[in-house]
Amino acid sequence: MGKQQTKAGRERRKRKEPIGPVKIAMVSPEMVPFAKTGGLADMAGSLCPALERLGLKVSVVMPAYRSVIHGNFSLIDGGLSVSVPISDRQVEGSILQTKLGQGMAVHFIRCDRYFDREALYTASEGDYVDNAERFVFLARAALEALRPNPPQILHCHDWQTALAIVFLKAQPENYPELASVKTVLTVHNLGYQGLFGYPDWHLLNLDRSLFNFRQLEFFGKINFLKGGLVFADAITAVSPTYAEEIKSPEQGFGLEGLFQERAQDLFGILNGADYAVWSPQADRCIARNYGATDLAGKKVCKADLQRAMGLPETAGIPLVGMVSRLIAQKGLDLLEKCGEELLGRNLQFVLLGSGEAKYEAAVREWALRHPGKASVRIGFDETLAHQIEAGADLFLMPSQYEPCGLNQLYSLKYGTIPIVRATGGLKDSVIDYQPKSRSGTGFVFGPYEPAALLDALDRALNLFARPKGWEALVKRAMAADFSWDRSARAYAEMYQRLVS
Ligand code: ADP
Ligand code: GLC
Repeated sequence: MGKQQTKAGRERRKRKEPIGPVKIAMVSPEMVPFAKTGGLADMAGSLCPALERLGLKVSVVMPAYRSVIHGNFSLIDGGLSVSVPISDRQVEGSILQTKLGQGMAVHFIRCDRYFDREALYTASEGDYVDNAERFVFLARAALEALRPNPPQILHCHDWQTALAIVFLKAQPENYPELASVKTVLTVHNLGYQGLFGYPDWHLLNLDRSLFNFRQLEFFGKINFLKGGLVFADAITAVSPTYAEEIKSPEQGFGLEGLFQERAQDLFGILNGADYAVWSPQADRCIARNYGATDLAGKKVCKADLQRAMGLPETAGIPLVGMVSRLIAQKGLDLLEKCGEELLGRNLQFVLLGSGEAKYEAAVREWALRHPGKASVRIGFDETLAHQIEAGADLFLMPSQYEPCGLNQLYSLKYGTIPIVRATGGLKDSVIDYQPKSRSGTGFVFGPYEPAALLDALDRALNLFARPKGWEALVKRAMAADFSWDRSARAYAEMYQRLVS
């Protein structure tokens, strides 16, 4: 069925048939510009307007985090409230609203005891201990919020919202208004599944029989994501390669069997980049705007970045940048192994990131040992992230696994050549440079080994030393198009198939 659907979609696209005005409710745990811990927020924040541009009717449901309540958004409190069962209690919340884009309604579920906190999921002492309860509440409250104006499609993202699908499908008697709603669950990162001990089961108010290994049980724990994957009408992964990888034991995180079983309903759709925010022509955070026909501005951005990071303002030295959560997924252990060798090359290195304490300590140590060569900023800094994209020559993403990855898409647009490992969306978006044909848009390596990373880096540095070849590569990279419209169309076609 999956293949036929894809063929039908292709033919529809060829005929340039319009997509119908399908009504979508996007339930997301984070979304730009309201709250962000990573790429999921970027993805939701650009997919929704792109769908709207295609003529779909989109609304969004997400938590009213502290950044929402105290942010500079014009929120309307229409006096709407929700009351949801958590265990044997009713928990009350309210709904705030705002509009985005061409009139897209965004509903924020407000319940300050759950969401008015310093962070979204994890504070300095670790994950919030009541995360199960917080996201059971969100899932139930989202369904309540949608009841008066039912969508045709309920599209959820990751474990934090997956239970909305479970509650809807396993307890249809509770949600009669939503009986005909089709459901989609997008997997952004299987490394996070929402695993909680059985003692939390009572919070869900689901029949005990659902706690079995074919539904919500996972090695003795409750698995929120798995529940959603079992009940969703369609599943998407954020790149075609990741949709394949998660069917294997190496990348399936214990759910590979489920993905194999549901292969007909599993689609890989590559994320796009929001070029209104992430392009050197439009970027408001960088020292000078530039484009492929006028690269002078990129030199200005490089000098500006060197200055900001306390590095010598040398134009001719290759500057390698990284913006990343500092966790194993992003290849930090691989980098730890070859950091000294990497910094032994003739280059400058800047890193912005935060994450696990041991990796933060390791990268800080590099900066201490290589002053004037390596400069590290620990923290989350949107402006500096843009400045690194614009000012660096090379962008490093040696991920162990990468469902999609957005920074390589941004880097291509900024002519900041990505060095990536061939995994997930990195493999789907960066083409390895071939000296003979002078083709490619970056440098790609396969094995998760220091030698492979250093080899890709050396190939990049060799070409950097040849300005003409380098400039041609930069221009090819900048011409690559990963705008959202194509990806949004793939989602729109999937929705249309589900409702027809
Ligand atoms: P992931 O969601 O797994 O972290 P992505 O590549 O999809 O990876 O998206 C990461 C997003 O978060 C990008 O927009 C990137 O610029 C941003 N980001 C990551 N770390 C930081 C940081 N320390 N400061 C600012 N932005 C960051
Ligand atoms: C996750 C993944 C990342 C992806 C992002 C947006 O955070 O780790 O690869 O780009 O989601 O889909």
